[in-house]
Amino acid sequence: MRTVVINGSPRKMGNTAAMLKEMAKFADEEGSRTDYLDLVDLRIADCKACMKCREQGECAQKDDLAMLSTVIKEADLLMLGSPVYMGAETGLMKCFTDRLFSFSAGVSPTELESRLTGKRKAIALFTCEMANGDRLYSYLSAGYARMLGSVLNCEPVLTAIVPGANPAWGLRQSPKAAETLELSRRFIKG
Ligand SMILES: Cc1cc2nc3c(=O)[nH]c(=O)nc-3n(C[C@H](O)[C@H](O)[C@H](O)COP(=O)(O)O)c2cc1C
Repeated sequence: MRTVVINGSPRKMGNTAAMLKEMAKFADEEGSRTDYLDLVDLRIADCKACMKCREQGECAQKDDLAMLSTVIKEADLLMLGSPVYMGAETGLMKCFTDRLFSFSAGVSPTELESRLTGKRKAIALFTCEMANGDRLYSYLSAGYARMLGSVLNCEPVLTAIVPGANPAWGLRQSPKAAETLELSRRFIKG
């Protein structure tokens, strides 16, 4: 089993990282070889919409997406994590997920289609400060479940939003943190 964990927070020791690292331990317990990557350490430019990926089968830009694409192709389990910034994922995560367009082979009438064969499990995790953030930002869960399913051929996909995650106090006041970890433990082992 191979797992890739991608942290989209600029804070490498923050709330999102704390959750992702606990979740990575569950994969390790299953004997997984796990790559943990912080997007803030990588060089990933904006998608330029050149559409060369449609002809070449991969992104034409030469940056760290090439390395990420290799590990994603080999992964059985993909975990993406981002804090909520202004009601959305961070710019780091958005920049990265826009570049995942290079994995789409084309468009059916209603959906992007993946060029990846084989299914991989995925988890999309968000942490946020608002106490009702799990309901407030549920569109993030829906959007990531759809994107991961179509573009990266991920199935099943677990999405979770951990509310009450204060930038300074961390996850202490977030009752959903433990619940989310337990859900992810069962998802990874199941
Ligand atoms: C620039 C910025 C914007 C934020 N916007 C929101 C927001 O819209 N909604 C929210 O609930 N929390 C918001 N937060 C709080 C973070 O999402 C939350 O504290 C998160 O757990 C931080 O994750 P990290 O420790 O991994 O960086 C924001 C924090 C920052 C720094």
